[in-house]
Amino acid sequence: MKILVLGSGGREHALIWKLKQSPMVERVYSIPGNAGIAEIADTKRISLSDKNLIAEFIREKKIDLTVVGPEQPLVEGLVDFLEKENMTVFGPGSDAARIEGSKVFAKNFMKKYNIPTADFTEFSDFDAALDYLNRLKSPEIVVKADGLAAGKGSIVCHTKNEAQQAIEDIMKRRIFGSAGDRIILEECMKGEEVSLFVIADGSHFVLLSPAQDFKRALNEDSGKNTGGMGSYAPTPFLTDDLLRMSVEKIVKPMLSGFRNEKITYKGVLYCGLMLTRTGPRVVEFNCRFGDPETQAVLPLLESDLAELLMAASTGNLADQKIILNPGYAVCVIAASGGYPDSYENGKIISGLDQLEDDVIVFHAGTVQKNGQLVTNGGRVLGVTAVHKDLQGAVDRVYHNIRRIHFEGIHYRQDIALRALRIMNE
Ligand code: AMP
Ligand code: GLY
Repeated sequence: MKILVLGSGGREHALIWKLKQSPMVERVYSIPGNAGIAEIADTKRISLSDKNLIAEFIREKKIDLTVVGPEQPLVEGLVDFLEKENMTVFGPGSDAARIEGSKVFAKNFMKKYNIPTADFTEFSDFDAALDYLNRLKSPEIVVKADGLAAGKGSIVCHTKNEAQQAIEDIMKRRIFGSAGDRIILEECMKGEEVSLFVIADGSHFVLLSPAQDFKRALNEDSGKNTGGMGSYAPTPFLTDDLLRMSVEKIVKPMLSGFRNEKITYKGVLYCGLMLTRTGPRVVEFNCRFGDPETQAVLPLLESDLAELLMAASTGNLADQKIILNPGYAVCVIAASGGYPDSYENGKIISGLDQLEDDVIVFHAGTVQKNGQLVTNGGRVLGVTAVHKDLQGAVDRVYHNIRRIHFEGIHYRQDIALRALRIMNE
């Protein structure tokens, strides 16, 4: 089987790394890929918004399955376009991808199907939003822009002044462009956050290891929001009981809700959950694999990923069994100096040949220049270690990441430490 993976991050490198382990897979292509992906797949530079060129590439290379990594092409209807051309694609169509593409759609969907989530009110009028804010009792509120905003469209506010500023930024100053036409003001929930990846084929589903990611730039969740500084799986915070509750109250009603709306949900339904005092509640849904969680989740998957994604894309998940490694995986992201603010590219990366054999390096922002591997993005590399216990995986990943060097390198030192603490209690 020939597979094409679209995207250029650590998530896509992890997908390709895992797909290459399948005896069914003869060749993997990647559009556009990165320097790490280019070592294990054939890469091609085509814009992910150029649907015609992508279709032409699929036809020319006789690709059997296309896997779409990022949300933008899903929301823009790439899957619908390719399926009209009779191509097999892993990922939801644009109607289903609205679950990530529009917060208003997602919140109303959850309300209709009684899915536990934060209470919310929707506004398209600036004065009405401010008026509502001023009448609130609690100063803690979350302000969300309606559309895709590169993952930055939610602002958690602790005072009314902060909330007023956020509403002005989104609706008046248009910091997220047209995503500021409508906003949501949402109750602020408290608890541990968990990412649960559901792979669905329209009728059936399977679950991967529940993970946690670390969005803030600095230790102890301080500093600015980033695309993700690390992850680990499985997370002990989602106990068997809480997992069962999440499946019964969230996953199953969501998938039957889609069926009721005559929408086929095929691909990954990423459930971003908060484990609150009243049980798991939804923070957000995404229509794709999460990054960097995928860099911890896929190394724990023992089943054949190519078989799984093909089964999900063709409505054949019913017969699929998921086998998971009983151990733990920890992924730490090595970022460029200055990230998530401005940073310089082109720093020479060294030390990758010094790592122990079973430690995996996924590339995100890297490129080959004049025969040297150099940085080319904010998040540069993800280093993942798997071990039978979580402490072992943490020790292994930090022991190895210290051997990697580039000017300005920084990474969090505390990935998975809160989980370790509760496991040792
Ligand atoms: P989102 O843009 O929906 O992915 O949210 C980004 C982050 O904002 C989440 O991962 C949470 O940490 C936080 N967040 C979003 N909504 C809420 C909420 N209702 N209560 C508390 N935190 C939230
Ligand atoms: N890890 C968060 C995301 O992929 O959106």
